[in-house]
Amino acid sequence: MNRVTTRISPEEVARQMELCGRIAEMNAARAAAPAAFVDTYGCQQNEADSERIRGYLRAMGFTFTDREEEADVIVINTCAIREHAEQRVLGNVGALVHTKRRKPGQIICLCGCMAQEPHNVDKLRNSYRHVDLVFGPQALWKFPELLWRIYTRRGRVFETADDPGNIAEGIPVVRQGGVKAWVSIMYGCNNFCSYCIVPYVRGRERSRASADILREVAELAAQGYKEITLLGQNVNSYGKDLSEGVDFAELLRRVNAVPGDFLIRFMTSHPKDATERLFDAMAQCEKVAPVIHLPFQAGNDRVLRAMNRGYTREAYLEKVRALRARIPDIVLTSDVIVGFPGETTEEFEDTLSLLREVEFDALFTFIYSPRKGTPAASLPDPMGKEEKQANFQRLVDLQNEISLKKHRAYVGKTVRCLVDGRSDDVRNNLTARTAGGRLVHFTGDESLIGGYHNLKITDCSTWALFGEPAE
Ligand code: 5AD
Ligand code: SF4
Repeated sequence: MNRVTTRISPEEVARQMELCGRIAEMNAARAAAPAAFVDTYGCQQNEADSERIRGYLRAMGFTFTDREEEADVIVINTCAIREHAEQRVLGNVGALVHTKRRKPGQIICLCGCMAQEPHNVDKLRNSYRHVDLVFGPQALWKFPELLWRIYTRRGRVFETADDPGNIAEGIPVVRQGGVKAWVSIMYGCNNFCSYCIVPYVRGRERSRASADILREVAELAAQGYKEITLLGQNVNSYGKDLSEGVDFAELLRRVNAVPGDFLIRFMTSHPKDATERLFDAMAQCEKVAPVIHLPFQAGNDRVLRAMNRGYTREAYLEKVRALRARIPDIVLTSDVIVGFPGETTEEFEDTLSLLREVEFDALFTFIYSPRKGTPAASLPDPMGKEEKQANFQRLVDLQNEISLKKHRAYVGKTVRCLVDGRSDDVRNNLTARTAGGRLVHFTGDESLIGGYHNLKITDCSTWALFGEPAE
């Protein structure tokens, strides 16, 4: 079904840039350039959004700091996926009362997914009165206009109405580093998994035009970026809202055809929309990294149905088989939820057996967290905390065993890796990633950062590989 996506016109984006210019003039009149602090919680989509917020802030004449007490403007880009993420945000935003008391002109902005949840907006309005500006992800494109309102009128600004979303092109970005880049290809989610808040806070699925994506990738490749990650809540439904006839598999092929020495990653893939067409494209495109993040969430069919996931255990396993038939050394990672309302320990055993059957390279494991407004939050949830915690521990223990086994298979091999930064491991000064995304610690010259190098894997732990330069 084709839906019409609201596209923000170039004139409207130009108006935002004009307001950036006016704020920049104000800022230029100050004794010293003002500083901004952008603090990001949650997923890569939020990281990518923060790069656009920084792009706007730079156009407004701000420098950047990571010290709250030095900042003239603070932007907190929030995550609502689980209770724990929200508590961290609220704790840190609460503490800013003191920072602002010491720096009274400070402007505090809160954006991202929490700004789209009515109960959190009420809380911010009533109990966090030091927060000046609150806006949801769908209003990000007009951040300059919202900040302008704060500067020119008295009072707080809340731009938090429910909004199916839009596509805005031409917003400037300030990227973190020159080696890896995020490229959003679509926004929002239509899947409404029964536990998940994302479709409520990020609006409906909408895709960027393929020409805009390809132009951005070509620019990044020309600038020397070595790794480009295509982002979306569910990249596999890319293009369904466009009339271009370009689906995600075709988009991958076109991105692969962009000249340059870079690796293509993407996330996240929903299993129900992961097709053999996609697996073929992955196998045939030499720049596409041999890795896929394919969240299965639960191994039991009743639980999968209650989660509204749209596939069965067997259908999931069939996709994994189809993928491995084409790319035998594919690195597979996944997400799992433990303790979904009504999941029994017997049903949870099916999650463990799926793990044994597939043997994921890495797993992101979560205990179910009720989200207000989602269907699962009103289901009976009889299992006690201890039993959920015990199941969670069994899951983690089993995955650790599997991860270690997978890592051991690398020892003795030489692999081409992208050296991406400094290591926090005491014995090694650098980190690198294999094409499949596995972390490697090694000792080498800092000039290697930003390039591809062959590393010989000499040792491993559950969480990482250890190596040495092979050339
Ligand atoms: N509770 C726990 N985990 C959740 N996730 C999404 N919503 C919830 C929730 N309410 C997990 C899913 C998803 C990942 C990004 O976060 O596993 O794939
Ligand atoms: Fe949430 Fe499901 Fe959409 Fe992923 S696919 S963002 S889990 S609703």
